[in-house]
Amino acid sequence: CGIVGYIGMREAAPILLAGLQRLEYRGYDSAGIALQNGGLPFMKQKGSVGALQAAYEESPAKMAGATLGIGHTRWATHGDPSDRNAHPHMNTDEDIALIHNGIVENYSLLRKELISEGYVFRSDTDSEVLVHLVDRIWKTDPSLGLESVVRAALRHVEGAYGLCVISPRDPDKIIVARKGSPLVIGIGEGEYFIASDAAPIVEHTNKVVYLSDGEMAVVTREGYQVKTIENIETEKVVTELDFSLEKIEKGGFEHFMLKEIFEQPEVMRDVMRGRVRIEEGRIVLGGIEDYLDRLKQAKRIVICACGTSWHAGLIGEYLIEDFARIPVEVDYASEFRYRNPIIGPDDVVIVISQSGETADTLAALRAAKERGAMVMGICNVVGSTIPRETMCGIYTHAGPEVGVASTKAFTAQVIVLYMLALALSKGRTISHDEMRLNLKELSQVPGHAAKILELDAQIQTIAESFKDARNFLYLGRGYNFPVALEGALKLKEISYIHAEGYPAAEMKHGPIALIDEDMPVIFIATRDSSYNKILSNIEEVRSRKGRVIAIASEGDTEVARLAEHVIYIPQASAQIMPLLTVIPLQLLSYHIAALRGCNVDRPRNLAKSVTVE
Ligand code: G6P
Repeated sequence: CGIVGYIGMREAAPILLAGLQRLEYRGYDSAGIALQNGGLPFMKQKGSVGALQAAYEESPAKMAGATLGIGHTRWATHGDPSDRNAHPHMNTDEDIALIHNGIVENYSLLRKELISEGYVFRSDTDSEVLVHLVDRIWKTDPSLGLESVVRAALRHVEGAYGLCVISPRDPDKIIVARKGSPLVIGIGEGEYFIASDAAPIVEHTNKVVYLSDGEMAVVTREGYQVKTIENIETEKVVTELDFSLEKIEKGGFEHFMLKEIFEQPEVMRDVMRGRVRIEEGRIVLGGIEDYLDRLKQAKRIVICACGTSWHAGLIGEYLIEDFARIPVEVDYASEFRYRNPIIGPDDVVIVISQSGETADTLAALRAAKERGAMVMGICNVVGSTIPRETMCGIYTHAGPEVGVASTKAFTAQVIVLYMLALALSKGRTISHDEMRLNLKELSQVPGHAAKILELDAQIQTIAESFKDARNFLYLGRGYNFPVALEGALKLKEISYIHAEGYPAAEMKHGPIALIDEDMPVIFIATRDSSYNKILSNIEEVRSRKGRVIAIASEGDTEVARLAEHVIYIPQASAQIMPLLTVIPLQLLSYHIAALRGCNVDRPRNLAKSVTVE
């Protein structure tokens, strides 16, 4: 989602709309603005900023003269994309407007509380509770200023936010607050800009102040004052931007794909936010809560997907069978739909799709529904077609993915499948203590991922020596077998080098014939129950002069003896490994493709979302 705000002497609406346009690369499904002149006119609607702009141009009069306002582009996390779910959210009297990025974790509790006090909700979002909270506190003490009421409201909020609030009841200021969701203040001459990143600000000024987590600011035409949420004043440094707009959109990275790879630790935290409860030893998955018993009783689970999502599905098979002991099959959606599958009311069909629009996956879902199976979705784009047609589901909350080659959406899918497998095991196949242990391991994944990303320079060096290879072989066993497939897919998608993934043991049934001194072979050789077997496979490749690149566990010395290059990653359980081993493979593909001068974000012939069969 994106946030913009303006306070100054100029007409605010056009500045806000232009700013929102700059933020559209962050994904959008709806947009809105609220301005303060005498009153608090606002407009918000489903669709693009262009559509909002057109609506504004039809009747600019009600916004005219306003030199203060806030705007938002939404990328849904709770509630479908719609006019009513677009921000800003207004209190019932429509004299407070609020926009919010992030997730309010305790929103359902707060919502119930507010409803019992008579508050009427007009959206399905978690964000709307914030504006009613502010309103409630203000009603109990109308003498307070907007800053104090927002501060008081935030004491009740668990979760992440970047937010802006305005009200003509305490006019000529914007209150902003940040916890876990970025906010920047741009400093102009007698005017100030607020945004969720610098993209909407650079055309006006290069002087910015970044808010830190746990900080609030009051922005007026005279200046800005930053305090902590606990009301302690803080000193801020003004930073000078020397970024191009394009760089900012890509977060300073060369390509969206690289930015998305590096976003993974943060995305992993977002996927788990509010869902992984280590102390309680449970997983909370709101979107399937009412169906959990039926899911646990499934005779069989069939997972259908395409491309990278299909690879996540394969890992899901291992996880669900391992933890929950329910038989799982994984099918290409395109095969499932056309092969007269045996499927019925005792089966659960899980479709996995980043976009929620893939034609084959959608058709598989419909075929399963027709045959009476229970259908569940794992999707990233909220309100897309697949989540609308499934009975229940889990959103991955990975944020918009721009690079055609999927990276962060994949790891988010795997985390969701891990959480699902544990939720299906609870009270059945694993003890409370095991549950807590597994949850703890999962919660450590973002930290491990961040550590792996520090290997970027090493991986780039490896990429340099292999960039001219014509073929690549990727081998792994167990949980790392689907990762071998995914690694090979990433490479061929963006670098156009032919690559194949195989279960390492299958090598001797064919691919071994290809091995010579020109064949790079990537082994995923982390320490798990098949470690010794994979070492023998590496020996087999070595004795045929294949060039081995290995991903191994930290502290391992055996692999280094056999491989030309070793990438060491933190040790974790076999079930966690795919979330870690895939990251160096994403980076390797990225660097090889970038070194070959390929169009990394938009590889030839491929589409982000394949809506034709
Ligand atoms: C396309 C994309 C892939 C993606 C696949 C499935 O081929 O290029 O990156 O994995 O579609 O997409 P979905 O949105 O259903 O996950």
